[in-house]
Amino acid sequence: MKSQVDLGVPIPPHKALVTRVIKQVTKEQRERALQETEYNVFSFPSDLLFLDFLSDSGTTTMTDLQWSALFHGDESYGRNKGYYVLLDAIRDVFERGDSPKKSIELLLSGVDDVERLMNELYLVPYEEGFVNGGIHQLDRPNAFIVPQGRCAEFLLFSTISKILHKRDSNLEYYIPNNGHFDTTEANIVASGLHAVNLFDKNIILEEFPLESVEMSNPFKGNMDIRLLKEFIKEISLEQIPLIYLTITNNTAAGQPVSLKNIQTVSEISHENNIPLFFDACRFAENAYFIKLYESDYRSWSIKKIIQKMFSYADGFTISFKKDGLANMGGGLFFRDKGVFQTNFSENSDIGTQLKVTQILTFGNDSYGGLSGRDIMALAAGLYEGTKESYLANRLRQTRYFAKELAIREIPVILPPGGHAVYIDMNRFFEGIDMKIEDYGGLGFTIELIRHFGVRSCELGPFAFEWDQKTNEQREGILNVVRLALPRNAYETSHIDYAVAAIAELYKNREKIPKVEIARGRNLPLRHFQTGLKPK
Ligand code: F0G
Repeated sequence: MKSQVDLGVPIPPHKALVTRVIKQVTKEQRERALQETEYNVFSFPSDLLFLDFLSDSGTTTMTDLQWSALFHGDESYGRNKGYYVLLDAIRDVFERGDSPKKSIELLLSGVDDVERLMNELYLVPYEEGFVNGGIHQLDRPNAFIVPQGRCAEFLLFSTISKILHKRDSNLEYYIPNNGHFDTTEANIVASGLHAVNLFDKNIILEEFPLESVEMSNPFKGNMDIRLLKEFIKEISLEQIPLIYLTITNNTAAGQPVSLKNIQTVSEISHENNIPLFFDACRFAENAYFIKLYESDYRSWSIKKIIQKMFSYADGFTISFKKDGLANMGGGLFFRDKGVFQTNFSENSDIGTQLKVTQILTFGNDSYGGLSGRDIMALAAGLYEGTKESYLANRLRQTRYFAKELAIREIPVILPPGGHAVYIDMNRFFEGIDMKIEDYGGLGFTIELIRHFGVRSCELGPFAFEWDQKTNEQREGILNVVRLALPRNAYETSHIDYAVAAIAELYKNREKIPKVEIARGRNLPLRHFQTGLKPK
């Protein structure tokens, strides 16, 4: 048979099985809800929205395979079944490239040969990767499951901070990153360390031709290598316990990081004996960008690209709530017998110290605050979220959203990243009296809910606390509103509605109110907590 004609349009990778009705809420009802929730979008009841682009985190529509895996969830307090398949799924995805073992299939296909289950799943030793197994995980734990990404950040930074300050309490310690997420930065600061952002705001905002969006990508999420080198020269090496790379770079408009940049940062870290960690949220989307736009990897599978990316890391924190992997879950992993373990195991193994904190705060190591159901859905999701057909569709939708906005002259950052579109508020309000301190982005998010029932999120001067930062720190703050796409939830019709709503708002932008912070200006992570007031 002849192979199918290429239509220039991809074959759709999935179809819906269950739908959810959107309630026909009126503008007056939304106005009342806005008032009673102090105009803070985080406090607005989601059931009263038509479309919700607040976050791509935990909002994924799970696949039928994930739902079926969920039924195999084992709620035992010690060493539930899913623990073993999850750890092996992590080895598969991050270490084994094109040769995964997929031991999850032993459970899902109902294998009841006990010897086989013991030999292939429950009692398999494994070492020298990100996830020790059998006796090695007991002896030198290096894989920690937690409820979400920020718990992994807490675990990592609170533990290393204690070690560092015991070593020398007079030194200041710095964690450079291509872009710290807000919770990462907050966890670093709360642990008495300093967070440093090394991206160039001007590169992110640089114009990019709409007609090239499909063809090329400048990897605007890269760490600025010049800034990294300068930083390392300025500060003594013992003050830099880790270098961090966030892939994709959510703080820098969700832009991807190239493999070349990963390699260069790895070289610099390792020349200086500094461990390189990834904030691996959205690693799969990042891998797909590498495949599409970094010519050396065009013929590589996504699995092989992920294996290559992680071969440079000494460890990673991750929120499994991203990348279509699961609705819940996070983790901290580091390479067995690697630089991180060596650098931080002075008096006792760093893994043992981390495990103690994990048990004290989240639960014992085999469930880490997750239910057995979450664990099984996540193990299945690790395979689902790294499929090329899924990723192609995902990035196609984000691109469609960005292009439709750009066609209507709405200043969206181009090319878009994988999980969201970001609108540049400085350009949105060009020619209108709207200063940075007037929080125009907040006005935008409030009006988009009020008139059209669509939720977005300000990630600019309000969220990143412009008024409390030094001039130097302000350099790292973009003035943007983000619309993050839940995975597999929305169709083209939803995006078309959102585009029409934003275009209408843009036409009437001179009517968007300035906003003041009415309550809680100085609260930490204030965007989740403060009360606002449109003027
Ligand atoms: N790192 C990055 C890059 C993130 O985007 C997030 C979460 C986290 C860490 C923390 O993970 O939420 O599981 O604790 N980002 C979500 C967002 C909340 O909407 O961008 P978490």
